[in-house]
Amino acid sequence: MTEERILSPENADDNERIIEKSLRPQFLAQYIGQDKVKNELNIYIQAAKQREEALDHVLLYGPPGLGKTTMAMVVANEMQVAIRTTSGPAIEKPGDLVAILNELQPGDVLFIDEIHRLPRVAEEMLYSAMEDFYVDIMVGTGPTAHPVHFPLPPFTLVGATTRAGMLSAPLRDRFGIVSHMEYYEEKDLQEIVLRSADIFNTEIVEEGALEIARRSRGTPRIANRLLKRVRDFAQVQSNGIINRKIADQALQMLQVDQAGLDYVDQKLIRTMIELYGGGPVGLSTLSVNISEETETVEDMYEPYLIQKGFLKRTPRGRIATQLAYEHFGYPYSS
Ligand SMILES: Nc1ncnc2c1ncn2[C@@H]1O[C@H](COP(=O)(O)OP(=O)(O)O)[C@@H](O)[C@H]1O
Ligand SMILES: [Mg+2]
Repeated sequence: MTEERILSPENADDNERIIEKSLRPQFLAQYIGQDKVKNELNIYIQAAKQREEALDHVLLYGPPGLGKTTMAMVVANEMQVAIRTTSGPAIEKPGDLVAILNELQPGDVLFIDEIHRLPRVAEEMLYSAMEDFYVDIMVGTGPTAHPVHFPLPPFTLVGATTRAGMLSAPLRDRFGIVSHMEYYEEKDLQEIVLRSADIFNTEIVEEGALEIARRSRGTPRIANRLLKRVRDFAQVQSNGIINRKIADQALQMLQVDQAGLDYVDQKLIRTMIELYGGGPVGLSTLSVNISEETETVEDMYEPYLIQKGFLKRTPRGRIATQLAYEHFGYPYSS
């Protein structure tokens, strides 16, 4: 079901990854929005460059599709160093991590995506690597096994996670720079859509871009995906130019509503209202009802619904707000 979902902020397939690559800003100056994160990183990057040191370790956290991977690459570009990329699930045993650490040159960026999914042994190895730039590797087996001290060049670990709460405290504490990525404002998303349209060689008017931006759940990845669909629609149904009306028609066809909610969001809220009187209803009950994993509901659907004011998390369960009732046209009584 999730792969069908146009508003899913997660990566869809290889094809999309290739397109994303062409859309990725390369430097801070091209990176739209996230001003707080950008301004902070800019200072730390300038300072590290002036001192000719590796940048302090950076933890980027926030919902999928907001530009964490992009930012990791921007950091490496700004520092004028190479970037090595891996992910928590890709590292199965400590040896996998050692192999990557072994290739680092002084100052390089090591990017670990989904760092909260790193196996425990690998995570523990990172402690000394991050703090004092060495790892102790066990060599040999049985009675002849002994640790070998393995020095590393100074490097910058950039970790990305959708769930900062799942990182262990010792790991989190070793990041000097912790940056929380926020959902994008409409005007920033509009700028991203205009920029992407330019890269796609697609004609678009500002209101068309704003309409797509408004309905992209604050997420650049979704904005770019909707842009591609709207572009197809404009090409077939009209003269290829994306204006507000064409954008609106295309998004309606895609079942993305005025608030940027898709059918899964809609189903989630309607379920709460119709089956549970608006809540409180437990996360697991709710997840079963819409046939999704609790983790998916928590990481992908709820944050946007909460930010939009349609849903609240309470100690007793999830609650649909008055705004949600009004948005879906149900009578509300408190
Ligand atoms: N600030 C931005 N400006 C322009 N495009 C962006 C920005 N942030 C993200 N994007 C676009 O959104 C897509 C998804 O970003 P990505 O870095 O892969 O997100 P994440 O790693 O957080 O899931 C990228 O291909 C990029 O084109
Ligand atoms: Mg990513």
